[in-house]
Amino acid sequence: MREHGKRAYNFNAGPAAMPLSALQKAQAELLDFNGTGMSIMEHSHRGKDYEAVHNQAIALLKELMAIPENYEVLFVQGGASLQFAMVPMNFLPAGKQAGYVMTGAWSEKAFAEAEKLGAAYIAATAKEGNYRRIPALKEIKAQQDTAYLHITSNNTIFGTEWHAFPDTGEIPLIADMSSDILSHPFDVSKFALIYAGAQKNLGPSGVTVVIIRREFLEQANKNLPAMLKYATFAKDNSLYNTPPTFSIYMVKLMLEWVKEQGGVTAIHRRNQEKAALLYEVIDASNGFYVGHAQPEARSLMNVTFRLADEALEKKFLEEVKKEGFVGLNGHRSVGGCRASMYNAVPYEACKALRDKMLAFQKENA
Ligand SMILES: Cc1ncc(COP(=O)(O)O)c(C=O)c1O
Repeated sequence: MREHGKRAYNFNAGPAAMPLSALQKAQAELLDFNGTGMSIMEHSHRGKDYEAVHNQAIALLKELMAIPENYEVLFVQGGASLQFAMVPMNFLPAGKQAGYVMTGAWSEKAFAEAEKLGAAYIAATAKEGNYRRIPALKEIKAQQDTAYLHITSNNTIFGTEWHAFPDTGEIPLIADMSSDILSHPFDVSKFALIYAGAQKNLGPSGVTVVIIRREFLEQANKNLPAMLKYATFAKDNSLYNTPPTFSIYMVKLMLEWVKEQGGVTAIHRRNQEKAALLYEVIDASNGFYVGHAQPEARSLMNVTFRLADEALEKKFLEEVKKEGFVGLNGHRSVGGCRASMYNAVPYEACKALRDKMLAFQKENA
């Protein structure tokens, strides 16, 4: 049993674990931000105190992800789910079509929104076999007049992740990176647009980060309501209306923590070590634990697995819950178990889970 006051072993899929030091900083500053006698929550979004936080968050993300000069970083609300609609609203004109690579439930949702707003097609799919793999790059078939190609870089529910991104040439590449942004280094310049709900690797819920190439932005549909246009956010530094100030402040604290850890390369190395702890147990279990994802498509963020039978799975989930592990039930649409190990989930929590899995297997095999 976890002692009262001790931090939980939090494997939630999102909202997810935050770094302890970021939470402590927020706690220390909660009543009096920077000697102003007010919480950052109580500051005007037009004031210099908040504005500094806002701009630091943007600058830190640019630095940590090595975002090129010709990109804008935007803070939008409505979650990644609104991005499913905003992307086609802005970038799918009549006479063009959008290609979607289907790698899970979130790709399906993104595709469904695009279909409502214009012409969309499936450029490749891993649905057969219930999304255990990522389509090979050569399977992706772009059709004529493709406005953009959309991928989901990490599939939170199924536990698969792209480990190499397609080269789409002239076709703008767009990615939903909600569940693996900032978890590994990659070349942002391959993408026309990246979006991510913050509540896994970037901070709390309430804000969605959009990274967009300026030349691409210029092609966007101008005839949209202000709040649905990326241009509105870009023009006013995401301060057209009141942004989710406290969420953005927490994003800033989380980015500072990433920097303190040694940046994205160091975080990536740790993520590999964390994920290996569990995949090794699964692989050495002689079928006691069965991973959902094919090994080459395995996610470093969400480890999905089942136990040999449902009664045992139920027993495992009940036991880990009693012992202070949180969030290990698989998504309701897939079942089984899922350990989400985002950036801020400590190595020690993953090690504790590995030890528990080994012990449970010994007692129940
Ligand atoms: C990959 C991915 N895309 C989109 C979403 C939906 O995000 P939101 O709840 O911010 O709309 C999620 C949520 O878990 C996700 O994992």
